[in-house]
Amino acid sequence: MRYDVITIFPEYLAPLELSLMGKAKETGRVNLNITNLRDFAFDRHKTVDDTPYGGGAGMVMKAEPWGLALEQALEATPTQEQLPLLIVPSPAGQVFNQQLAYDLAEEEHIVFAPARYEGIDERVLDWAETRFRVLPVSIGDYVLYGGEVAVMVMIEAITRLIPGAMGNPESLEEESHTGGLLEYPVYTKPADWRGHRVPDILLSGNHGAIARWRRDQQIERTFDRRPDMFKAYPPENWDKKDRKK
Ligand code: ADE
Repeated sequence: MRYDVITIFPEYLAPLELSLMGKAKETGRVNLNITNLRDFAFDRHKTVDDTPYGGGAGMVMKAEPWGLALEQALEATPTQEQLPLLIVPSPAGQVFNQQLAYDLAEEEHIVFAPARYEGIDERVLDWAETRFRVLPVSIGDYVLYGGEVAVMVMIEAITRLIPGAMGNPESLEEESHTGGLLEYPVYTKPADWRGHRVPDILLSGNHGAIARWRRDQQIERTFDRRPDMFKAYPPENWDKKDRKK
């Protein structure tokens, strides 16, 4: 997977060098290229924004630097049948979720265009439509200062689904948002901590009973915390022994 990120704050993405994400980079499972948008602004002040036509608050990101930076990213795209994907983080986009992360993990080349200020001149997106598959994506119903943090969220969620980029791939099978129910609670030693005991069943060695207890916990949690997910749980996934609340 090749990622290109075009931003006026390349330093913002420094944490992607750390931990398992850093390792995915080191081992060549992902190729992360961060480009400073200002490298494509050629006036003395390296200007990347200007006032909006029609008036209004804030500044708009200029088309010229974006056009050049996106062209550079296109040159790097591996030959493939499909156009590369251009993700434009925006609170006005399609909402990111685990299913979209799985779909995106299949891509060969994703270019991210995180905006600052009031956004990017719309003509950049019109121009990009014939060169990329353009996908505006929101990471949730709230507004950030800019798209960089949204890019980090997406890159991390996508990368851990790429084969070999997960410390323990088995954790993918049981985690929240994979099977339609939230994950069960977990405990480690000591068995008694400040008077709080680990549920006895987990110390019983009875694997069948433990699996049943964990599934009950998943159902309980999903019902309490995410009634929307609980309602949407596919009927065929219910087990005969499940208590359906
Ligand atoms: N930029 C600002 N807010 C955002 C959000 N919620 N998702 C993606 N990009 C954003």
